[in-house]
Amino acid sequence: MKLRQMTNEDLAGVVEIQRQILRREPGEAWRRMLANHVGGAERSAFVAEDDGLVLGFILVEVKAGGFGAELTGWIEVIGVRPDHMGGGVGSALVGQALEHFAAAGVADVCTAVRWDSGDLLAFFKNLGFDRSPFINLQKNSG
Ligand SMILES: CC(C)(COP(=O)(O)OP(=O)(O)OC[C@H]1O[C@@H](n2cnc3c(N)ncnc32)[C@H](O)[C@@H]1OP(=O)(O)O)[C@@H](O)C(=O)NCCC(=O)NCCS
Repeated sequence: MKLRQMTNEDLAGVVEIQRQILRREPGEAWRRMLANHVGGAERSAFVAEDDGLVLGFILVEVKAGGFGAELTGWIEVIGVRPDHMGGGVGSALVGQALEHFAAAGVADVCTAVRWDSGDLLAFFKNLGFDRSPFINLQKNSG
């Protein structure tokens, strides 16, 4: 398994993983957001690949000034091909993201997980993440 930066050639494979995880077609806004992570300065993305097959992906962003810290690294989305889950792909991708953040001088790394998403919570807790002192607020104006 190889870890490397995501390129435009990986987009179809990443969309396919997201389709399998969601069990529906990822929307146009999601695809745009994904494409915006290719080759960006603040936004980046990495894939785990084996013999040309994208096994997993991680989308990250370095934000300035968030939460009183100088720079904060955000893990925005992570996904592993369902038929490869439980094989260490996800933890390798988080490791790659942490290396990327360290190289950018970022000490604080955050992610947001649905409170009832037991799988993702267990995954991140296993990698040393814990509750932050912040809570997300939401307003639906629709
Ligand atoms: C969560 C996810 C990224 C984990 O990737 P993975 O490659 O399956 O995880 P790993 O094999 O690297 O597991 C690392 C550790 O996390 C924990 N873990 C992983 N998946 C878990 C699960 N489903 N339940 C509980 N713990 C889990 C395990 O304790 C594992 O530790 P171990 O190696 O000591 O057993 C992957 O399962 C996934 O993509 N899930 C769907 C994500 C999703 O719902 N996305 C939509 C919203 S963004």
